[in-house]
Amino acid sequence: MKRLVGKVALITGTAAGMGAAHARLFAEEGAKVIATDIRVDGGGELTREFRDEVLYLQHDVSDPASWESVVARGKEAFGPITVLVNNAGIAGPNAFTADISIEDYLRTVAVDEHGIFYGMRAVIPGMIEAGGGSIVNISSVAGFAHAPGTPNIAYAASKAAVRGMTKAAAVEYAGQGIRVNSVHPGGVMTEMMATQINEEQKEMIASLVPMGRMAESVEVSRPVLFLASDESSYMSGSEIIVDGGMLAK
Ligand SMILES: NC(=O)c1ccc[n+]([C@@H]2O[C@H](COP(=O)([O-])OP(=O)(O)OC[C@H]3O[C@@H](n4cnc5c(N)ncnc54)[C@H](O)[C@@H]3O)[C@@H](O)[C@H]2O)c1
Repeated sequence: MKRLVGKVALITGTAAGMGAAHARLFAEEGAKVIATDIRVDGGGELTREFRDEVLYLQHDVSDPASWESVVARGKEAFGPITVLVNNAGIAGPNAFTADISIEDYLRTVAVDEHGIFYGMRAVIPGMIEAGGGSIVNISSVAGFAHAPGTPNIAYAASKAAVRGMTKAAAVEYAGQGIRVNSVHPGGVMTEMMATQINEEQKEMIASLVPMGRMAESVEVSRPVLFLASDESSYMSGSEIIVDGGMLAK
């Protein structure tokens, strides 16, 4: 039995990295997927392969009006949105606190922190109408500690903010059947990571992970799928760390 049959999932940042893996797994597991990304032509192979299951929309998560538009178009195509995966994010520059420009700080929090808020704000009324839903906010191990690969203070601030926002919304909407949880990946070899580190740094980070390697995107998609599905029906306000044991050291 497929695990997401009957769900309509909006997943952000699906043109690359983990978002692409989440969208693929969700479609394979029977969800209707509204896959969004800031890139205009980001639908690619996924929309060709899952013609009836995946709708790709261009979307800037840092723009509240863009959220209103994708939620309305998604609902028109598939019905009320019952799952949101707030995945899109940017790393921002590799810079210490005194060196990051104010502009870069503000752009990073606009996407990584404000985007998560705009997303929850946009889907919650529809989820209430639909009788409930599941929101999965993608944070990072950087929300807990200055982990290897954390690019800057704006990224750390955003990922910590996601933990707090997740708990606030989880408590506020528990009575209306909406569950809100966060997922905290460690090192995952995606486009974002590739722009941050070279081969040597990759080996260094892997050597700090008790499991001795970085994750494949799908290894994060599986816990995200679990939180989106009814299998996690008693979980809200929870944090799932997916880091090969990094934070346990
Ligand atoms: N890669 C890692 O090691 C790692 C670790 C912990 C957490 N994360 C988090 O996981 C999430 C996915 O990261 P990834 O590594 O797959 O990144 P990625 O860079 O490979 O993919 C991110 C996607 O988001 C899109 N995007 C960027 N800005 C956007 C915007 N304003 N609106 C909509 N889409 C936008 C990009 O176009 C891209 O397709 C991010 O929130 C990231 O912070 C990543």
